[in-house]
Amino acid sequence: MARIYQPTARNLAHLARVLRRGGLVAIPTETVYGLAANALDARACRRIFRVKGRPARDPLIVHVGHINQVDALAGFNETAWHLARTFWPGPLTLILPKKPVVPAVVTAGLDTVALRIPAHQEALWLLHQARVPLAAPSANPFGYISPTTARHVQETLGRKIRHILDGGPCKHGIESTVVDARDPKRCVILRAGAVTAAQLRAALRGRKVKVVSARKRAGGRAGLRAPGLLSRHYSPRTRLHLVRSLGASADLPAETGRIFFRKPAGAKLRENEWSLSTRGSLAEAARRLYAVLREADARGLRRIEAELAPATEGSLAEAINDRLRRAAARRIR
Ligand code: TXA
Ligand code: MG
Repeated sequence: MARIYQPTARNLAHLARVLRRGGLVAIPTETVYGLAANALDARACRRIFRVKGRPARDPLIVHVGHINQVDALAGFNETAWHLARTFWPGPLTLILPKKPVVPAVVTAGLDTVALRIPAHQEALWLLHQARVPLAAPSANPFGYISPTTARHVQETLGRKIRHILDGGPCKHGIESTVVDARDPKRCVILRAGAVTAAQLRAALRGRKVKVVSARKRAGGRAGLRAPGLLSRHYSPRTRLHLVRSLGASADLPAETGRIFFRKPAGAKLRENEWSLSTRGSLAEAARRLYAVLREADARGLRRIEAELAPATEGSLAEAINDRLRRAAARRIR
């Protein structure tokens, strides 16, 4: 069984050594917990795929501790530098042409690499002490709900790994936004995430850079470039049904769970009922989403009904509803 380490100076030094020697460590970030290995060590990175049961065609994100490390890993352009300076450390992942030091296993053989600096104190300490970039996908078995606490990692990967760093519950609770930034005139959002499209557009205002969403533009085809994005993902074992709005007063059939986006005013939540937010805050809903899905899934219900977030263009609702839709998708395509 994995051991959960508190972020003391001694534990961090120990875990940094584990990483340098080719071991795996589950690490906290501001989005979700990641399963990390030295990104320059192909053997260590292959173990990530084995532990997660992740297909080799699904590339990993490389995390670095400082912006002066990224030049060695990827080819940046003006727009990419600007985005990095604006959002890093933070939940934005940039896809850029890779440099030869990055092993092919990390990028699934693509000629691009995904990079970000996480905005999480303990993750940054570990990155600085390990002195190597860390490849880290979310620390969940492939296809299951992403972890937002050390306990979540322990529950699903605890038998397969030995080291989990506890950095508390994740602040955003939803993965980073993945942006293809190879074309300095046109940024393509491959995965909606904690940085919203509106924030990206605001940061690029006045620069004549287009921000487009891969999903809207190419339908499912964008998945060819970001393979993890097409399949059923983030999914509970219990069947999940999405609705625009759940009636507050209807009878709750036995063995059915309900997840409200916003707690109905005045109503008390019953057993097998949850709400993602108390007052309709998208940030709160994102933060709680995966923990609530895991809790509901653990009840062994026959079905779960979940309310979509009220969609506003360019807001965090896009990332929340993207995750809910994938979680509800029936099968791997
Ligand atoms: O917030 C996050 O991004 C978390 C934390 C741990 O940093 N990580 C995460 O990793 O969500 P993962 O592996 O679960 O998702 C990474 C996504 C996948 O959909 C993958 O296909 C895409 O990024 N990706 C990685 N490298 C890529 C590349 N070179 N080109 C296109 N997509 C890429
Ligand atoms: Mg993932």
